[in-house]
Amino acid sequence: MEIYDNHSLKGLNTFGIDARARRLLFLRGSTLDEPSRFMNDVDELFKSDFRKAPYMVIGEGSNIVFTKDYEGSLIKVGEAVFYGDDDGRYKYLTVGASMLTDEVVRLSVDYRYYGMENLSAVPGNIGAAVVQNVGAYGVEIKDLVETVDAIDLLNGDRHAFTCEECLFGYRTSLFKQQPGRWLIWRVKLRFNSDFRPNLSYKALADELQRRGIVRPSQRQMRDVITELRWSKLPRPEEYGSAGSFFKNPVVDEDTCLRIKAACPDMPQAHKAGDGYKLSAGWLIDKAGWKGKTLGRAGVWPKQALVLYNTGSCTGAEVVALAQAIQKDVQQQFGVALEPEAIIV
Ligand code: EPU
Repeated sequence: MEIYDNHSLKGLNTFGIDARARRLLFLRGSTLDEPSRFMNDVDELFKSDFRKAPYMVIGEGSNIVFTKDYEGSLIKVGEAVFYGDDDGRYKYLTVGASMLTDEVVRLSVDYRYYGMENLSAVPGNIGAAVVQNVGAYGVEIKDLVETVDAIDLLNGDRHAFTCEECLFGYRTSLFKQQPGRWLIWRVKLRFNSDFRPNLSYKALADELQRRGIVRPSQRQMRDVITELRWSKLPRPEEYGSAGSFFKNPVVDEDTCLRIKAACPDMPQAHKAGDGYKLSAGWLIDKAGWKGKTLGRAGVWPKQALVLYNTGSCTGAEVVALAQAIQKDVQQQFGVALEPEAIIV
């Protein structure tokens, strides 16, 4: 295990916020030469005193806002080896938790394992993707999860969770609901052997039609989705952000009808459980926040759901902007916005 004291977090969160962690514990990934190096590092972690102060597992930091220095240990998983198999009906990829989600999509396209292409260009690693059940363009990671291997940080026990046991919901899971409890180190994903493009997301279907693509290949889906995503989000090398900052709110039918009556241009609300899922990006845009800044935090001019760092912004400034938006959307529409990003 590698131990770093008083470590800068600037390169460890995609917002680029300049806070520090009292300690960073890095569990090195297995290599072909040393297949059990990761588990040796896990043993070392449990021999250390990491539970005496606050601790948290961190992925690529693409969904987190540090509002102050972290007075405890951040645990980073290095496990990244992968292998594929096939039971005749489905194909499977088993990947270490630190592998980037987009890298897993790239592998699936290279191998012609089907079903994950709609998650192209999603930031972060696959472990974090499972924690928050990431989703984009009509697919969520839960649609692919076969099993999740995790270590119980309370006692070191190892568990293999089935997809059902992960209790996935919209941008949530058992792992998100029990913060600090589980260290995900390996994920097995199930893929289709036949290609059936998922065109359920309207903006994607419209874009393919605009390009005159009637029967897209898996690679075309990946390319179009990658372009579509980046056309709306800040380039990470230019501006820090955490992707969608808020979840799309689920409201009751009366609220949905009331807003639709007041604003006939409201995008189609989709049924979600007992209620209707509204577009947080549209609500923020309609509330007049698109392109605005507060301090050094801003609302991305091409997608109001994305808050970004205009340059050396602090986590407190991001939170102040988020709260101002929440207040306005509550006042104007009577809708509570909940952050998707984790605020520490
Ligand atoms: N809209 C506006 N103004 C805006 C932004 C959006 O009017 O500034 C409207 C759009 O025109 C559209 C609707 O709101 O009619 C929905 O917007 P969009 O298609 O951009 O998607 P979204 O619902 O805002 C969700 C996910 C994204 C995912 C996209 C595509 C959440 C919180 N966000 O965004 O996920 O990429 O769909 O599937 O569910 C992420 O979680 O980090 C993320 C980027």
